[in-house]
This record gives sequence, structure tokens and C-alpha cells, in this order.
Amino acid sequence: MEVVITATPREAGVVVADILEGTVRAGGTLGLATGSSPGPAYDELVRRHREEGLSFAGCRAFLLDEYVGIPAGHPQAYRQVIRRMFSDHVGLEVAGPDGTATDLVTEATAYEESLRRAGGVDVQLLGIGTDGHLGFNEPGSSLASRTRVKTLTEQTRRDNARFFAPEEVPHHVLTQGLGTILEAAHLVLVATGEGKAGTVAAALEGPVSAFCPASVLQLHPHVTTVLDEPAAARLRLVDYYRFVHGHKPSWQGY
Ligand code: F6R
Repeated sequence: MEVVITATPREAGVVVADILEGTVRAGGTLGLATGSSPGPAYDELVRRHREEGLSFAGCRAFLLDEYVGIPAGHPQAYRQVIRRMFSDHVGLEVAGPDGTATDLVTEATAYEESLRRAGGVDVQLLGIGTDGHLGFNEPGSSLASRTRVKTLTEQTRRDNARFFAPEEVPHHVLTQGLGTILEAAHLVLVATGEGKAGTVAAALEGPVSAFCPASVLQLHPHVTTVLDEPAAARLRLVDYYRFVHGHKPSWQGY
């Protein structure tokens, strides 16, 4: 796993945009996350689209997850969020699990099938929850799990409450499983802010455990973690990560 530490969230966004741009130019398949962590990367990609003509025409994109129990047109439904944050600005169509489906088990299987038919995800962007979730695989999720319904922890509901009226905060989601996420060719985790420092340290340097679902990243052969300084503050090998990145051979990309 490569760990890249930047001075600011904006610089972290530029590194993530550099990685995603390679897949965009190759006409590959992007896996997209919502939440606030990927915001600066999306802003940078929108800027490159507008100012540098970066075209998303040949690309496909899939979301990690979707709330269950809110209407599809709700402004906080992730298919709406990603359109506002990113995809409408670059002309990209994004598929996502349908949290309004009457049969969520069938919907989960169909979503897995659509990922398979697309040939899988080339680069999957990920955020991390303060409780260690990846996608919405909350603590206790099987490290081999597939797309399915999960129940949010109270901690995640509190973290996401800022987007909803108090009585509206969803309890359930459809999320790609950890086993599904691990099938993407390249995983890119982005985390910023001191509130993520503890969970980032647990995920990167703690034991691989369903208790910290993001620790499953340690099992994947190609992961890039992009952190700002506050999010990296509790890593024990921080000096080593900086040295590795600072002395990267010129032939080695991300
Ligand atoms: C969102 C998702 C979540 C978020 C995580 C961090 O699609 O899958 O895992 O990435 O909750 O959210 P932020 O970035 O808002 O802190």
C-alpha cells in the first residue's frame, strides 16, 4: 500500500484526480464514493474537464452505496448527490444500487451482475467512516461480503445527520460488500481532517479485522491512500511513508 501525505485536502484532491484521470483517459470504469472526502478530487476533475478538455465520454461509473428508505429524488440520495457534486458537470452517467427497489435482495444481486458485465471497476475511490466503515460495511461486516442491505451504526447516523432533518436520517443502505470492493483493480482511499486520524491508523496499521472493515485494504495488492497531515497524524510509520513517496522512482506511477 502506498501512503501519500499532503499538506491540505485540496492537494489530496489533486493527487486523487491525477490517479482517476489515467482511468478516464483510458476510457475505463470508475467506482465513485460520495460523502465529503472526495469533494476536492471531484472539483479538480471538473476543473480539468472545463479548462483542459478532459473528456469522460468513454467512461462508465458505479456508486458504492445508496440509502434505503428515502425517495430516489431526495436531494441526499447518493445518485442525486453524485450528480450535483460531479457527474452532471462532466457529462458522466453513474449507475448505483436502487435503494427504492421493492425486492432489495434481487436488486443487490442485479447490481453485482451489472458490475460484472461492465468488466469490473478499474479504480475505486473510497472514503472511510469514523467507525472504520468502507462503503457502508459497518463494523462486523464479513471481509468477503457482497452487495447487500446493511444497518447503519448510531455513530454513522450521527455523522450523516448533518444532511437530514432529525427524523429523516436513514437506518439502512444498500452497499457493495467488502469482497465486491476488493475486486476493483486499484483502490484509492482518501481521508482528511483530524477526526479521521484514529480510524486511519487502525485501518492501515492495526490488525485486519471485521471490527475495522477498512483494514481489509491490507489484503488488496494495489491500494493508494491519500491523507492530509491531520488525518495522517496517528500513523506510526509516517516518516517512512513520506520517505517512500519522496524517493519514488521516476518510472513508478500510482
Ligand atoms: C459514501 C461512503 C462512505 C463515506 C464515509 C466517509 O459513498 O461509502 O463510506 O465515504 O462515510 O464520509 P465523509 O467523506 O463524508 O467523511
